[in-house]
Amino acid sequence: MNDLAPLVLDAQADFARATTPAELEDAKARYLGKSGRVTEQLKSLAVLPADDKKPRGALINAAKQQIEFALNARRAALAEAELQRQLMAGSLDVGLPGRRRGTGGLHPVSLTIERIEAIFGSMGFDVAEGPEIENDWHSFTALNNPENHPARSMQDTFYVDVKDAAGRWLNLRPHTSPMQVRYARAHAAKHADAIAQSLPMPEIRVIAPGRTYRVDSDATHSPMFHQCEGLWIGESVSFKDLKVVFSDFCRKFFETDELTLRFRPSFFPFTEPSAEVDIAFAHGPLQGRWLEVAGAGQVHPNVVRNYGLDPERHIGFAFGMGPDRLAMLRYGVSDLRLFFDGDLRFLRQFD
Ligand code: DAH
Repeated sequence: MNDLAPLVLDAQADFARATTPAELEDAKARYLGKSGRVTEQLKSLAVLPADDKKPRGALINAAKQQIEFALNARRAALAEAELQRQLMAGSLDVGLPGRRRGTGGLHPVSLTIERIEAIFGSMGFDVAEGPEIENDWHSFTALNNPENHPARSMQDTFYVDVKDAAGRWLNLRPHTSPMQVRYARAHAAKHADAIAQSLPMPEIRVIAPGRTYRVDSDATHSPMFHQCEGLWIGESVSFKDLKVVFSDFCRKFFETDELTLRFRPSFFPFTEPSAEVDIAFAHGPLQGRWLEVAGAGQVHPNVVRNYGLDPERHIGFAFGMGPDRLAMLRYGVSDLRLFFDGDLRFLRQFD
């Protein structure tokens, strides 16, 4: 023990009290700073007689080393404590609810089209898709719409500012009926040998759902809407088969046998005879009202010729229906625009 022991003890106690690096540096200054207690001791050496300087200097240095040792130990302890604090702050809290990845759902019209595909699929119908930007021949001419005939204005067609090889404006298809022609021509090409030898050709049985476009917009019409075309061509496919197929479809689609179909005479250039198909439910909110669900008819011989087939041998029916309309009826939606506004509060109800 020497007279410097209390100084060392004071320093150790001071350093231990410091809880932050800044407090520790303040404490350090009180001992090792310019006018700190250790520094004062060293200065006091100057006034000692020469013989006393060396032993006194050794004592002060020993005390200074102990103080520096205590200082470094405390610095390390505070740094370690700070690291632990940061680790704790950033640590994983397994009790926190996770961030959920949003799950999507199918659009009610997509659900309806899937349903249509499944039902017709079960009746042996293929599903085909085709271009939404069409040429004049497929949209109109091939479907027995003579050029410059007023029947062409039955659809308020959108035209595209590009012409086809025949010099006619391309259009946004106003119906899915061009797909009758595209599919039937591909089928005829595939079976060209059988057709040339008058051998039986496999029947055409297809539906073609997709987007269609017309200049039209109100609660029950949207400029973009959906249609689903249907075509069945064989050697003796008749209006009677159309009735059976369509009745079957409606019963399956609406999951009830309690509905009546009505084929109301109508006109389409591509069918003869033509009909609009109405249904009426025996029960439910729409009970007793006739609701139009499709246009249909026996394919016109001119159209069969444009398929690349012989209307004396290949006959059948076509129909075109509106999946949007069917979705409205099935889900009880009164405004078509709700389907296309993209409001998730509406759309999530069909997930
Ligand atoms: N394409 C017609 C329309 O857009 C609907 C239609 C009617 C399609 C009769 C057909 C059909 O295939 O035979 O209004």
